[in-house]
Amino acid sequence: MKVAIIGTGNVGTALGGSFAGAGHEVTFAARDAGKTQRLAAIVGASAVATPLEAAAVAEIIVLAVPYIEAMQIAHEISGSTAGKILVDATNPLRPDYSGLSTDGGPSGAERIATVAGSARVVKAFNTLFASVQANPGLNGQTADALIAGDDPDAKAVVAELASSIGLRPIDAGPLTGARELEALAWLNIALQMRIGGNWSSSFVLLGAPDKAIAA
Ligand SMILES: NC(=O)c1ccc[n+]([C@@H]2O[C@H](COP(=O)([O-])OP(=O)(O)OC[C@H]3O[C@@H](n4cnc5c(N)ncnc54)[C@H](OP(=O)(O)O)[C@@H]3O)[C@@H](O)[C@H]2O)c1
Repeated sequence: MKVAIIGTGNVGTALGGSFAGAGHEVTFAARDAGKTQRLAAIVGASAVATPLEAAAVAEIIVLAVPYIEAMQIAHEISGSTAGKILVDATNPLRPDYSGLSTDGGPSGAERIATVAGSARVVKAFNTLFASVQANPGLNGQTADALIAGDDPDAKAVVAELASSIGLRPIDAGPLTGARELEALAWLNIALQMRIGGNWSSSFVLLGAPDKAIAA
């Protein structure tokens, strides 16, 4: 698959490395051109200067930037993403890490969808720490990739992408399910902050019915 990753931080590096390692064609874009080129060279990917250029060459675009920036970028690239899959991997954390800025309202992913034109928005990978995105077998068992979206075909493609890097994709329902996925991610983040943890905990739905497993 041709995957654009917007962001070269913890998540961009982890997912980009895993996707490239699984044989996908990865293109990175961020703000720091030198860092983007260095990362691309390390993982065997391409680097371009802007999110718009990355979106133009990809079938799947992954937003791996802070949530506020993701809203802005989704809007900026909306003219080039018609029919493409836009994966929102962000968590809309409050700047002081006291919770989610979306509190009780629509999820970050639903808000991104309102500015993303006719891109097919899928929420995925936000419930997995970068350590697990980089190494899905980190805890000695397969971690779950919880996936929410309104377009079943787009979700199936993202499920295949998740599967290809060693995650078990779970269908978490329509895009409104992103509310639960963001809350779940926050639960894990808050736990790690509270205990000064190692940021490697992840979720596995024990006894998941076969029909919930997306690929
Ligand atoms: N860290 C985790 O374990 C984890 C797990 C799941 C989800 N998330 C979510 O994933 C997102 C990214 O987290 P992170 O930890 O990877 O953050 P990070 O390490 O701070 O990296 C953020 C990246 O976003 C890029 N960026 C920021 N504004 C941009 C813009 N306007 N245009 C292009 N690139 C821009 C930065 O590029 P430059 O360096 O070039 O400025 C940087 O590469 C956040 O929403 C976070 O909540 C994080």
